Amino acid sequence: MSAKIISGTEIAKEIRVEIKQEIAELKEKHGLTPGLATVLVGDDPASRVYVGQKDKSCNNLGIYSKMINLPEDIAEEDLLKLIDELNNDSSIHGILVQLPLPEHINETRVLYAIDPNKDVDGFHPVNVGKMVIGEKCFLPCTPHGVLELLSRSGVKTEGAEVVIVGRSNIVGKPVLNLMLQKRPAGNATVTLCHTRTKDISFHTKRADILIVATGHPKTVTGDMVSEGVVVIDVGVNRIGKTSEGKAILVGDVEFDSVKEKAAAITPVPGGVGPMTIVMLMKNTVEAARNKLVRK
Ligand code: GUN
Repeated sequence: MSAKIISGTEIAKEIRVEIKQEIAELKEKHGLTPGLATVLVGDDPASRVYVGQKDKSCNNLGIYSKMINLPEDIAEEDLLKLIDELNNDSSIHGILVQLPLPEHINETRVLYAIDPNKDVDGFHPVNVGKMVIGEKCFLPCTPHGVLELLSRSGVKTEGAEVVIVGRSNIVGKPVLNLMLQKRPAGNATVTLCHTRTKDISFHTKRADILIVATGHPKTVTGDMVSEGVVVIDVGVNRIGKTSEGKAILVGDVEFDSVKEKAAAITPVPGGVGPMTIVMLMKNTVEAARNKLVRK
């Protein structure tokens, strides 16, 4: 068997068409342009690429994008002051602080400082808590993107054995919670494996749907999965550069061996990555629309 390739690039394109329509409506009916502020501290090359992609996506869709790049040695106090200003800026509906932050800055304190109504990353504890109990809130972009990839590819999660590898706050834990929700895009039986799991293969072989987000290449290889599994690879690992100096990217899954057994698999790049960005755009539009309701 050779797997169907689930293209995040194509599905994200489909969602962008829907978002464009929503933005046009907000502008025409309400004179409202959604605005997103992205804050980058320092100049980590990968973070710079991600922030640049978000800015480009905003520009393509007609979302106002305010990119703020702060020096690596900025004081935490000054970053908190900037967040406070953005919280009070009526042209900004969504605020995203790119992670990771430098060591001297307390990440939790920074995330807590963002107005939950502008927390389009879905990282503020108010939104995390609402997500866990199934209340309406901003869903974190990558986990939400994973759910959309599955549903828009016709993969049913209800009653499925979903196995997640990786327990990060950004991916593993929220995917676990979303998959458990009592609704059609959830209703799965979920297992979460991590670095202290005794026998990861035992679990990955039982999976109908396998979601891998460990941050390490080849975490899952062909001998660790069963025929017919659907695989979502969340990883983006830079393993070198081409002769033209372009980064070579691989996921957390050994694509070539796993695709021989899988029914469907996401590629890297072109799988989850484009979905993360489009879900951020969706949250930003939702944040702008929520403002109309709260007025
Ligand atoms: N760093 C890696 N992934 C993310 C993300 O989804 N949001 C933010 N803010 N930073 C990240």
